[in-house]
Amino acid sequence: MDNYINVPVAPPARNARRTESIKLYGPDAFEGMRRAGVLTARCLDGVTDLIRRGTALAEINSFVIDFAAANKSTPATLGYKGYQYACCTSVNHVVCHGFPNEKKLRDGDIVNVDVTLILDGWYGDSSRMYVVGRPKRAAERLIQIAHEAMMKGIKAVRPGARLGDIGYAIQNYAHSERCSVVRDFCGHGIGQVFHDSPNILNFGKSDTGPELRPGMIFTVEPMINLGRGDVKMLADDWTAVTRDKSLSAQFEHSIGVTDNGFEIFTLSPKGLHAPNIDLLSISA
Ligand code: MF3
Ligand code: CO
Ligand code: CO
Repeated sequence: MDNYINVPVAPPARNARRTESIKLYGPDAFEGMRRAGVLTARCLDGVTDLIRRGTALAEINSFVIDFAAANKSTPATLGYKGYQYACCTSVNHVVCHGFPNEKKLRDGDIVNVDVTLILDGWYGDSSRMYVVGRPKRAAERLIQIAHEAMMKGIKAVRPGARLGDIGYAIQNYAHSERCSVVRDFCGHGIGQVFHDSPNILNFGKSDTGPELRPGMIFTVEPMINLGRGDVKMLADDWTAVTRDKSLSAQFEHSIGVTDNGFEIFTLSPKGLHAPNIDLLSISA
């Protein structure tokens, strides 16, 4: 096991703090988010090489720690509300916040890796699904649907649209594919704090909620289940699993609202939006 004693933990934000109102950011912030976002995306690109039978989840954690250190950045989750790891690794029926422990990947596993790197004070938060070997058809389909659900949510973003439009787009699509949406977790405002307002729900009614305005920055990160949407927390108080043990999949991007739509800060420079699965008819 690694010794994490010398791993830097994000210092408490000084000037930045969570607020009730939705912050509007300018060009400097967008530039900061671009840099943090692409760094996180590069980290997730690098994770691809570790995804094979026999890799311990802890090796992914070590990779993220080393990648962050080599790039003058800090993993935001390390020490966050007592969380002990540099990333979350959620395998199969784990919905989110799975610990990157000594458990080893097995053929056919699907795994979400969620990384948030802080670069010069800006938080780049993103997650992707990876598959080990050849996935079962149902697992591959779920991953495609989760990615498309996220993209449908993102594409609802433009000035004048409302927050409920995002959740509605996600929910409507997931249900049309006979999948369910996890309602216990949501996206969030982001910037110089990890989890800011507003909550970005993955369900909702169109034409409701606050109006989206240029300069808003937040994540879109739906969790989609093959079975029911209900989750159960494990005794570790972090790991969320599907109650019915059905598979769960999630993707996450950090985005900004622009004058005519959106900008995704966490796009993969290598085009590995959903690595090692043959789904990419999907643009962006
Ligand atoms: N990265 C997750 C998100 O998308 C949050 C993880 S918090 C942790 O918001 F403490 F579990 F790591
Ligand atoms: Co995340
Ligand atoms: Co997030």
